[in-house]
Amino acid sequence: MTPAVPSPAIGALRDARSIVVVTGAGVSAESGIPTFRDKADPDALWAKHDPMDLATAEAFMRDPALVTRWYEWRLCRCTACRPNPGHVALARLEALVTRAGGAFTLLTQNVDGLHQEAGSRNVHELHGSIRVWRCLSCATEHPMPDPPFREHPLHCPRCGKGILRPGVVWFGEMLPESALVAADRALTNCDLFLSVGTSAVVYPAAAFAHGARAHGATVIEINRDPTPLTKLADLSLMGKAGEILPALVGEAFDEG
Ligand code: OAD
Repeated sequence: MTPAVPSPAIGALRDARSIVVVTGAGVSAESGIPTFRDKADPDALWAKHDPMDLATAEAFMRDPALVTRWYEWRLCRCTACRPNPGHVALARLEALVTRAGGAFTLLTQNVDGLHQEAGSRNVHELHGSIRVWRCLSCATEHPMPDPPFREHPLHCPRCGKGILRPGVVWFGEMLPESALVAADRALTNCDLFLSVGTSAVVYPAAAFAHGARAHGATVIEINRDPTPLTKLADLSLMGKAGEILPALVGEAFDEG
C-alpha cells in the first residue's frame, strides 16, 4: 500500500529550488545491507561488534587480516545487493530538479555505492567507499574485485610492498576534504533539507540539518524511528524510506 504523505511535504518538494539530502544506513536497509544501530535490525553491526576493534586505523595496524576479512564480508553484502525504491526515488528527484534548473546534492554516510548504482549523480561520500581500497605505502587507489580475496591482508598490486586498506573513513579520521567543501557549499544555499535513514548521532552529518535550518531551509526527516533530529525537523515522516520516498516524489511530480 502506498503511504499517505502530508501535503506540506509534497509542497516543499515541488517548490524547492535547491535540495540537500543526507542519507544513512536506513536507506540501504531495504536492499539487505545491515545498519549500525537500528534496534529492530538483527544484523546491526555495532550491536555485534565493537567499532574500536574493526573501524579504526589502530585496529587495522593491530590485526590487518581480521579487519580485511570483516570489510571483505561487508563488501560481499554490498556487491550482492541492489538499489531499492528509496535509492531510485532519490535519483529520480535529482533528475527532475536539475532538469528544471534547480540544484541537488546528495551527502551520504553510506559506503556501499548504491546511490550511484541507482543513477544519482551529484553524490558525495562523507565516509568514503568500500569499493575502493588504498595502499598504505604508495597511496595508489584500487577498485576492489569481487570477493573472495586471494589473501588477507591484500598487498598492493602496484608497489608490491604496502598493504591495502578499505577506502572508508574510520573513527578518529578526517572526512574527505572535497565532501566537506561540497557539503558546506550546498548547505549554505539549500531551501530544502532531507534527512533519510540516519540515526543522526554521528558528526558532522548529524549537524548538517542545523546548518541548513540556520540558512532558512525547510527540514524534513524520513526515518523509521524517532531520532535527535525529529524535534527540530519541520516535518517528520515516520516509515520506510523505500516506501515514503517514491510516494513523496510521485505525489510531488506525477500528473493526475
Ligand atoms: P544507523 O544504523 O546509526 O541508523 C540507521 C537509522 O535508519 C535508524 O535511525 C533506523 O531507525 C533507520 N532505519 C532503518 N531502516 C529504515 C528504513 N527502511 N527506512 C528508513 N529508516 C530506516 O546508521 P547511520 O545513521 O548511517 O560510520 O550511522 C552513521 C554512521 O555511524 C555510519 O556511517 C558509520 C556508523 O558508525 C562509520 O563507520 C564512520
